[in-house]
Amino acid sequence: MDTNRREFLKGTAWMGAAAVAAGCMSAKQGPGFGAGGSMFGFAAKPLKHIRVGVVGLGSRGAGAAHRLASIPGVTVAALCDLEQYRVDAQREWLAKAKKPAAKEFVGAEAYRAMCDWDGIDCVYNTTPWELHVPVALAAMRGGKHAFTEVPSAFTVEECWELVETSEKLRLNCMQLENCCYGEAEMLALNLCRLGLLGDLVHGEGAYIHDLRVHNYNDLSKDKYAYWNHWRLRWNTVHKGNQYVTHGLIPLMEYMGINRGDRFDYLVSLESDQYNFEAYGKAHYPAGDWHHDHKVQMGDMNTTLVKTVKGRSIMIQHDVSSPRPYSRINKITGTKGAFAGGDFKYGEQTVTSEWPVRFGWEEKPGAGLHGYFPEAKQKELREKYKHPYWKQAGEIAKKVGGHGGMDFLMDLRWAYCLQNGIPLDTNVYDLASSCCIGELSERSVRNRSNSMDFPDFTKGAWKTQLPLGIETVDLSKMGDLGVDDVKKDKAALNI
Ligand SMILES: NC(=O)c1ccc[n+]([C@@H]2O[C@H](COP(=O)([O-])OP(=O)(O)OC[C@H]3O[C@@H](n4cnc5c(N)ncnc54)[C@H](O)[C@@H]3O)[C@@H](O)[C@H]2O)c1
Repeated sequence: MDTNRREFLKGTAWMGAAAVAAGCMSAKQGPGFGAGGSMFGFAAKPLKHIRVGVVGLGSRGAGAAHRLASIPGVTVAALCDLEQYRVDAQREWLAKAKKPAAKEFVGAEAYRAMCDWDGIDCVYNTTPWELHVPVALAAMRGGKHAFTEVPSAFTVEECWELVETSEKLRLNCMQLENCCYGEAEMLALNLCRLGLLGDLVHGEGAYIHDLRVHNYNDLSKDKYAYWNHWRLRWNTVHKGNQYVTHGLIPLMEYMGINRGDRFDYLVSLESDQYNFEAYGKAHYPAGDWHHDHKVQMGDMNTTLVKTVKGRSIMIQHDVSSPRPYSRINKITGTKGAFAGGDFKYGEQTVTSEWPVRFGWEEKPGAGLHGYFPEAKQKELREKYKHPYWKQAGEIAKKVGGHGGMDFLMDLRWAYCLQNGIPLDTNVYDLASSCCIGELSERSVRNRSNSMDFPDFTKGAWKTQLPLGIETVDLSKMGDLGVDDVKKDKAALNI
């Protein structure tokens, strides 16, 4: 057995055990609220100057460090990675951008020291999946707000642990779901909030993205790093929808899930896999471990969720088929329908120009057999553009990150923290979406039997209001007395 194969298996061994354990776990109901009560409405003491430690400086982490460093009142105060060269690259970027130098942490366990260091307020976690929960817990136990890439957890137990830790320590534990801040998603949210689609009945979302190359590629050529193939390692031993959030969290916001409604149960059905192993065979020579590698994850997973208020959601996952990217992003109500989650050829993100489409009955009962004509849609897209996009969309496009949505996500949580406002999503949203990893896998492995969702909010969902139409007040970003903040504002033309 060659070294690469041995290392790969070493990485998967514990995950296999986790998958077996997951099969016999129950969706336990948690205890009462931790020490300080529910995290709904929780606002930390205003932090005018936010010092962030970024851990996992790969493709997401590098982009995050650059975005965060451009937000007025936010400093990238610590950089952490397994690999020295990843930290070097960001140190050089900060120096070139004339930003303050950050403290450096290098090594597999170095994130622990960073989480305990009192020079940061928040940990921004862009590591591979298996590190999401350990880093978030270490961050909160070190007294820091935890911001974690998607998916922030995979099992019901992990979700409960994050909920209980966030409640007990009174710290934010937020999932970094950028797609909620996409132009199309925010347009849909606005239409929903204005009641133009009526009472919401059904939503469809997905993560359909041909990621075979990302699964199989050796990420590190110079030495076989532990973090190589983190996607493939996971998909090797799991089934179900393990990457649910890009398609689901926007639907949760439209429908007010955890705020007036909640997930009740799901059923999940999966095709066999035809594409993963065929890719390994086609791209690697016989004798190379990629060639004969076995993968458990099916190509297409379809999970159906019923809410306690009787609404339905379809959510799909396919990262191995040769088909165009789609988040589907469809929402229908008693008056009309919105769709807009597909990519135009060559584009990196859904724009509000195309393929967004929507329509609603002009008179009750008139029927709706097609979306509005193009000219009318164009006018209405402008009219109903989300106020946050109207306000900061141009700045966001300039800074970038999936067409600007990554920046709007970061700008919004930074604004909330700086001004003592509750964040848009909390640990309950994280838990109710992420537990679908385990619940859908258990359903698939049990002939699509239904699985109940735990109520992570312990009944508090009944009295919460859906997310409103939120923006930021750019004049209240950062401490205006600080030169660096003035420079950031000038660079962004704020
Ligand atoms: N929201 C989005 O649009 C989006 C897009 C892509 C990826 N992601 C998520 O972002 C995360 C990272 O993805 P990526 O594509 O940037 O991965 P990547 O492989 O490019 O980067 C991962 C980084 O983590 C580092 N790392 C590994 N082990 C570590 C450890 N023990 N301590 C510190 N650093 C460690 C690696 O050295 C590497 O630099 C994943 O969770 C993924 O799901 C989100």
